[in-house]
Amino acid sequence: MSQLSLAVDVAGLRLRNPVMNAAGVLGMSHSLLRRIYEGGVGAVVTKSLGPEPRHGHSNPTLVTVEGGALNAMGLPNPGAEYFIDTIRALNGDGIPVVASFFGASIADFRDVAVVLSEAGADALELNCSCPNVEEELSMLGADPGNTEKVTAAVKEAVDKPVLVKLSPNVTDIAEIAVAAERGGADAITAVNTLKGIAVDVDFRRPILTNVTGGLSGPALKPVALRCVWEIHKAVEIPVVGCGGISDWRDAVEYLLCGASAVEIGTAAMKEDLDVYGKVANGIERYLESNGFKEVKEIVGLAHEA
Ligand code: FUM
Repeated sequence: MSQLSLAVDVAGLRLRNPVMNAAGVLGMSHSLLRRIYEGGVGAVVTKSLGPEPRHGHSNPTLVTVEGGALNAMGLPNPGAEYFIDTIRALNGDGIPVVASFFGASIADFRDVAVVLSEAGADALELNCSCPNVEEELSMLGADPGNTEKVTAAVKEAVDKPVLVKLSPNVTDIAEIAVAAERGGADAITAVNTLKGIAVDVDFRRPILTNVTGGLSGPALKPVALRCVWEIHKAVEIPVVGCGGISDWRDAVEYLLCGASAVEIGTAAMKEDLDVYGKVANGIERYLESNGFKEVKEIVGLAHEA
């Protein structure tokens, strides 16, 4: 009888288990990314990298709110070129790397993708869904035509799997996922954060310097699950679920809705990095106790109920 296996193949990206960290929440040094891997992820996802170094917004950039957190970092990062050595070091450790990236134009997206791909990233996560930055950087992914164009430009330039990370701040996320698939996306990551505001009643003004921020954490989970559900029905390519996962039950909900793998962000900010391994172990126990041998057997199963 075959052994139970947690290994998954997400659009050509081979993972020892279906759990990854979400881009951007933690730091991005080689040692931290290695600790995240040791914490149990199947692959590490980098902070979003752009064409140039960016400072991001000034503090406060993060506030905890009921059910999660609002962040408006403003895509701070050292630039893709700076990160090449870190990718190489992670390659040397045998750690699969998903490089998250963004640009201010379609040409930028393509150029950054080439840098990261040539550096040795195993896959790329195209972030066209940050809610916290100026017009030309943010929400390219709110428009199906632009999503298709940027995806196609990147896919023409690199031969690595490209995951396109979409925003829940749109009317019809399935239409945008279909556009990404038409552009050649290998997988969809659903979702980035939900735009919101928190107000300081004593100072009578918004808490975040940027005024608005992106909501992550448990409050986002039902919205993100709905997005995964709709995207799974609309496309053939795999979906990676992201939003409010704190434990294995949350992760299994995503798998049942149609995700082939999951990303965890906010929960790792308050727990230690063991959260990834705990979630992976919980998924394994769930498969075992319900008579399944592989993760893919439960992907989308809730649609059949
Ligand atoms: O503000 C930020 O850096 C957020 C990025 C994102 O949500 O993609």
